[in-house]
Amino acid sequence: MIKTVATTPFTDQKMGTAGLRRKSKIVMQPNYIENFVQSIFNVIGDLSNKTILLGGDGRFYNDIAIQKIIKMAAANGLKKLVVAKDGFISTPAGSVVIRKYQLSGGFILSASHNPGGENGDFGLKYSNESGGQVPTSVSDKIQQETLKITEYKICDCEDIDVSRLGNFKLENMEIEVIDGVKDYVEMMQQIFDFAALQKLAASGFSMRFDAMNAVTGPYAKEIFEKLIGFKDGSVVNFIPKPDFGGLHPDPNLVYAKELVDFMFSDKAADFGAANDGDGDRNMILGKGFFVTPNDSLAILTDNYKLIPYYAKGIYGVAKSAATSTAVARVAKAHNIGYYEVPTGWKYFVNLMDSNRITFCGEESFGTGSSHIREKDGIWAVLFWLSIIAATGKSVEQITTEHWQKYGRSYYIRFDFEGVDTAVADKLMADLEAKLPSLGGKTYGDFTVKEAKPFVYNDPVDGSTTKNGLVIYFTDGSRIVYRLSGTGSSGATIRVYLERLQTKDVLQNPLDMVSPLGKIALDVAEIPERTGKHKADVIT
Ligand code: G1P
Ligand code: ZN
Repeated sequence: MIKTVATTPFTDQKMGTAGLRRKSKIVMQPNYIENFVQSIFNVIGDLSNKTILLGGDGRFYNDIAIQKIIKMAAANGLKKLVVAKDGFISTPAGSVVIRKYQLSGGFILSASHNPGGENGDFGLKYSNESGGQVPTSVSDKIQQETLKITEYKICDCEDIDVSRLGNFKLENMEIEVIDGVKDYVEMMQQIFDFAALQKLAASGFSMRFDAMNAVTGPYAKEIFEKLIGFKDGSVVNFIPKPDFGGLHPDPNLVYAKELVDFMFSDKAADFGAANDGDGDRNMILGKGFFVTPNDSLAILTDNYKLIPYYAKGIYGVAKSAATSTAVARVAKAHNIGYYEVPTGWKYFVNLMDSNRITFCGEESFGTGSSHIREKDGIWAVLFWLSIIAATGKSVEQITTEHWQKYGRSYYIRFDFEGVDTAVADKLMADLEAKLPSLGGKTYGDFTVKEAKPFVYNDPVDGSTTKNGLVIYFTDGSRIVYRLSGTGSSGATIRVYLERLQTKDVLQNPLDMVSPLGKIALDVAEIPERTGKHKADVIT
């Protein structure tokens, strides 16, 4: 039943910050997925002794792509495919499964926080045996392969029923359909003190978790309501839908509006949280209070001793260059290693594998630890609840006390979306050329200390990555510019602003960073070049 199909290359199959992400309609073109997956199989080489995980966030086209990949894996002689029931697994749960069962790798079908549906986005991430996405050296090889592919192999057979747990065979390939939720829940029970969390829930403390009609609904129901005992209805939008019910499943102040409105109303719960489409991002809210992901990383790191899994001690901590320096001050106080990496979770993997770091995070609502090799939304929520359970303090109290102790990095990100790619590329190139001339210049209260591209030398594999342009000011403030690597069309220019205050910690963040915003727009000539005088999204 195996057939070999002739094909021609697509020239746009280069993976971005996190896998291949494109408009659904592009991915639905004949041979698009097939070419990409065959290229990965070609790079892996011999599949006869390999076991690979397959699952996704349930978005539109997930089911069809899953069937294609099953049939291709069998035709390419894979030993075994572990498929999540209904094709359904969160990104962190996928990492748990790969690591726990020592699989060779995995395909996670997801475009993360991007909208889904026929007019939305689709994506495919490929992980190796670490449970994290492959490094650039491998994704580059895969891209080379996509450019020269001439044929792919696929079984000409009926669809496989992945709605029932169990073992099957297709050609010589074993298929095991597993529960995508169970192993993840068990891992969370090993990390956190569930008895303490049950006490918190029983004390009348209330929470709301918004699964945004995406993959974390079943995980959150099981963990927060069933196992911990928060009351029924604490988890909302918990039924995963192929188009996320029209939501843009990105847990931030803009897109998680329903939760934000609720948490800032007089009916607010004591604690609020949301996750993204594939369950790796998180947003944390208190009553009428928002915690930036930058501060969240710093606060979790500072409180590691409260969590059984970390209590004996942690290795260092890492953040992406665009993320604020809040966690750097915590690392210093605890005398642990501290690393700054390019944007993208894959850059944390080597640091975790070599025991250099335990925690890591990004400003883009990603926080995680070395329990897996992806960021982990529900993990971050459980960590916060555990701090609350142990200290008896509110989210707002925990955060403000943290600022009083460590100072506050006021931080806001501005996104200029839908910019013409050529315009954006030229803006970045011209800005880079101009950086050396900025040193020593004064803009109002701010004097430039240094301005240069961010260059990362991986201490483990020796690779060098350049990502983003940074202006450092003498008072510790920073402006970071970079182009998004996850968009499915056009360019998004991201401008990250950070301003450090050691004493004045209760001001409005937008007011605090707005002088930097003006400098950022002027220096890069954003209005002149893009026609945009203000950002499309501010988070
Ligand atoms: C964005 C975030 C980045 C994150 C990635 C995947 O990438 O900025 O921190 O790792 O999504 O969730 P970007 O679009 O900026 O390349
Ligand atoms: Zn995600």
